[in-house]
Amino acid sequence: MKKQSMSALLGKKGKEKLTVITAYDALFANIFDGEVDCILVGDSLNMSFAGESDTLSSTLDQMIYHTKAVCNGAKNTFIICDLPFGTYFNEIKALESSIKVFQETNADAVKIEGGKERASIIKALTNNSIAVVGHIGLMPQNVRSEGGYKIKGKDAQNIQELIADAQAIEKAGAFCIVVEGVKPDAAKLITESVNVPIIGIGAGLDVDGQVLVWSDMLGFFDEFKPKFVRKYLDGANMVRQGVQQYVQDVTDKKFPSSEEIY
Ligand code: KIV
Repeated sequence: MKKQSMSALLGKKGKEKLTVITAYDALFANIFDGEVDCILVGDSLNMSFAGESDTLSSTLDQMIYHTKAVCNGAKNTFIICDLPFGTYFNEIKALESSIKVFQETNADAVKIEGGKERASIIKALTNNSIAVVGHIGLMPQNVRSEGGYKIKGKDAQNIQELIADAQAIEKAGAFCIVVEGVKPDAAKLITESVNVPIIGIGAGLDVDGQVLVWSDMLGFFDEFKPKFVRKYLDGANMVRQGVQQYVQDVTDKKFPSSEEIY
């Protein structure tokens, strides 16, 4: 599959579901390349790759390092780089951070968390030829200010706020919006309220596409499984078994064999 343009992705709204998966390195990005519409280099890497307890300590340089690797591995897929916490608190800072991402990697877009309060920042980026993916609902970068990961869209007032957020960031130029941790009825209303694709995560079926963190969906992170994750592979056990077999073979002097030496 050839890399899709932003307008091709936009054009899928209401016609075809969009598929997005995260990746943090060239090896896995290469496996995902051409299989999905977009790869997100999410700041979730700070948790699943770096083992931290939340995303807040990830830095722009780390995101750039991982985005470079993903771009090297996936040349045929639209790549989105998350701007980490504290790197887009005003228009100038967001422009500096995004320009650095664009100059140092081949990312196609940046993603930023936030609703109407971020509209002027999104406008500043899109006015400067930087494609932006929005992210509303449960925003992991707010975990400390909100005292945990809180599901959104539970009451009529919050649903109206979410719709206003989606419309404000669409108007500011975001070409796509991630909606995370939102009740399915609310996600449906948000999806119907804008013309850009809504990519859900923990937001039910009535959205324009889905995104999952690769290590969750492929079963490499087996300490905890969020309710919205479907495990498509038992990755951790497969790897564990492979490693155990290797250790056994070395111990039993069965590796290397006569075919595996020079
Ligand atoms: O950081 C990330 O991986 C994300 C997804 C969960 C949408 O933002």
